[in-house]
Amino acid sequence: MGPDAKRDLVSIDDLSCDEIMALFRRADDYREDLRAWSGVCPGSIMATLFFEPSTRTRLSFESAMLRLGGGVVTAADAQSTSQAKGESLADTVRVVGGSYADILVVRHPCDGAARVAARYASVPVINGGDGAHEHPTQTLCDLYTLWREKGELRGLDVVLCGDLRFSRTIHSFAYALARFGANIVTIPYPGFEMPPSVLDRLDSQFGVQAIAASVGDLPGIATAENSAAYLTASRPHQLALFTNLTEHHVERIDAIYMTRAQRERHAGQSTEGYPRISPELMRSDLMRDARVMHPLPRTDEIAYEVDADPRSIYFRQAELGVPIRMALMAFLLGAIEIDASRPTAFASDPGLRFAAGIGAQCRNVRCITNSEAVRYLPAEFRMVREDPPELACAYCGEAVRASLVGCLTSKRFHAHDSADARRIKPENRVYFESEQQARVEGFRGGADA
Ligand code: CP
Repeated sequence: MGPDAKRDLVSIDDLSCDEIMALFRRADDYREDLRAWSGVCPGSIMATLFFEPSTRTRLSFESAMLRLGGGVVTAADAQSTSQAKGESLADTVRVVGGSYADILVVRHPCDGAARVAARYASVPVINGGDGAHEHPTQTLCDLYTLWREKGELRGLDVVLCGDLRFSRTIHSFAYALARFGANIVTIPYPGFEMPPSVLDRLDSQFGVQAIAASVGDLPGIATAENSAAYLTASRPHQLALFTNLTEHHVERIDAIYMTRAQRERHAGQSTEGYPRISPELMRSDLMRDARVMHPLPRTDEIAYEVDADPRSIYFRQAELGVPIRMALMAFLLGAIEIDASRPTAFASDPGLRFAAGIGAQCRNVRCITNSEAVRYLPAEFRMVREDPPELACAYCGEAVRASLVGCLTSKRFHAHDSADARRIKPENRVYFESEQQARVEGFRGGADA
């Protein structure tokens, strides 16, 4: 990707740690006087394409662009767009990104939709939340607020609590915390644990390993049914200094990040006994230095009595959404220079190796490639690990473990660890999860398959 290519924010990985810190410093300038920056992006137009409801994300983006001196066009719900008449996301962003708008913010119910929008739009695309996948600008708000509170991110111990499976804010926040060297304690509502694809990515990208955790006195949060885990990139010999390596005892907390049950993505499951932050919890000794965070909207998972506690910072997270989104848009539009190194690899960088199709659609039923994009977008997978082969959907990140490797020229498939498989040139490799899948694609078993 050349230096002049457009920059998108699809995943929080699309910004380097240096860039994120530079955006924080710029946001600090903006928040001093939000009304003083109308000369930064005069004449620029942002389009918000929101195919799911929103209060904070859409309105703070719109406010941010107006405060930068630009204008806004908006589609606040799917029914008000031609999607209701069957138009594809690809066609919508091709039309709106260009003469209608200079930058797009897209929210969509399908995992991976923001990647599709970024691919088809000619202007920068910001992911305003795609299904249960990622919500990178919420993470900018969360990290910025936490950094302002604690003065640093490295070494913090952050509890992620509630619906860790379907909450996109949790996923982006976890990737960022790991990258900044924070430790994570997961306390899921039973059945709503962190998805394997997120844990795999934390491990493969950041060396983050999960070990069982015991959490002391956190009434209403840590119960006998919760399976708490400690996720850290600390090497085992460091862990050995304070744990028996099979269980980490949580003795301090810097922040507890609560998230609501994402009912719009549940199949009617009960959430009886969902964790709740109560005044009693706030009196726990473990909470003495902890900040209470929430991306909002809340339903019933934080008692209203907790709002006045100075450790509650969830309304500050929402408030800081305006200056941090001002900084982000000014940066992506090229209106401000940022002296910071870029990410080593963009998730959208064509230089990142994409494996040839595995002969199957992504298994994630919520993935955009399994809904409308099936009409125009082939399934694509990114190589995560060579041996044993592990791939991830290039759109939603769902993991695929391939046991067979096929050769595009000989049309034969082999066990991934066979000598025949190793001889196949990288550009001729195609991966399969099963013999049946390979045969459906017209491949025959090799001699040692
Ligand atoms: N945190 C967040 O994304 O809120 P909205 O759904 O109101 O945008």
